[in-house]
Amino acid sequence: MAIHNKSHRNHALQSLNKMRRDNVKLKSSIDFILPEKTDIFLQISDCLDLLKQIPDESVQLICIDPPYNLAIENWDMYDNYIYWADKWLKESYRILKPNGNLVIFGGIQFRDVKSGDLIDIIHHLRYHSKFKLINTIIWHYKNGMSAHRYFANRHEEAIWLAKSNDYYFDLDSVRVKYSDDELKTALKDKRLNPENTKKGKNPTNVWEIGRLNGNSKERVGHPTQKPTEIIRRIVKALSYPDSIVIDFFCGSGTTGRVCIEEKRNCIMCDNDENTKKYFDLHIKNMKELGCSNNYDFDLSLNEFFNKINKRSLFSNYE
Ligand SMILES: C[S@@+](CC[C@H](N)C(=O)[O-])C[C@H]1O[C@@H](n2cnc3c(N)ncnc32)[C@H](O)[C@@H]1O
Repeated sequence: MAIHNKSHRNHALQSLNKMRRDNVKLKSSIDFILPEKTDIFLQISDCLDLLKQIPDESVQLICIDPPYNLAIENWDMYDNYIYWADKWLKESYRILKPNGNLVIFGGIQFRDVKSGDLIDIIHHLRYHSKFKLINTIIWHYKNGMSAHRYFANRHEEAIWLAKSNDYYFDLDSVRVKYSDDELKTALKDKRLNPENTKKGKNPTNVWEIGRLNGNSKERVGHPTQKPTEIIRRIVKALSYPDSIVIDFFCGSGTTGRVCIEEKRNCIMCDNDENTKKYFDLHIKNMKELGCSNNYDFDLSLNEFFNKINKRSLFSNYE
């Protein structure tokens, strides 16, 4: 059915556009209109106070690096880890869109019954949620602490969970380019699709990305700051331009910075006031590196959602 009336009040066109917008499973970021400006919101509070204000099925990607009760810092202390984690995991399921994704950083590190780790979370979700575990990503780094009583640690993990089998995944946006020689060989490989080969290779679930060391330019002072490169791969592959990403253990705000750079909207939360100071430094670094993408720092969640909803209603009429 051709719809010629492009008025904003044309209901047939509105619902057609909604269908198009919602059916994002097989799209890649190039199928989306890049917004001129994105929206950012930061709340300093307990994550559960923020989560209860987020509407159902409104978020495309949750990317979090939670505390694990390892007593590394003073925020790392909860009496019953999985009882506490269950509260934000349930909220995560509720706020994700049907095609949404959840990424949780962590490790395998039990010391005593009070500490948590990714195995606890995976086990809990397997028996108490409908999340699907899509990948366990091994983040391998060559730089790290030396050790004498055990093998020096050179990896951390992140799990990628999806709310349904219709999850959004844009592999093309994160393919890794072949070198000229590799490309020639790969193009001769009959098992590979030449179109995809030309776009680059699948980065696999083992990612070699350096950790931030003390004098890294990216450092803003947070003790467990993640490199932008690792967050960028997640944001690009598992969310799309102008969609909503949330990080409710945002630390320095690495996720928010990457969202501005990649034109996603981002809600951040941390219960430490220092986050504001760290995030200002991220923005300063980002600008010094030449990123001048426009964004609004919204003062309330209402303002954040109203602006995005308005944009999404009108952006598909062009
Ligand atoms: C591992 S750090 C996140 C670091 C972050 N990925 C980055 O790149 O900067 C975890 C953060 O969770 C915060 N946190 C701990 N418990 C919290 C809670 N109940 N609600 C909100 N934030 C919390 C801590 O203040 C800390 O900054």
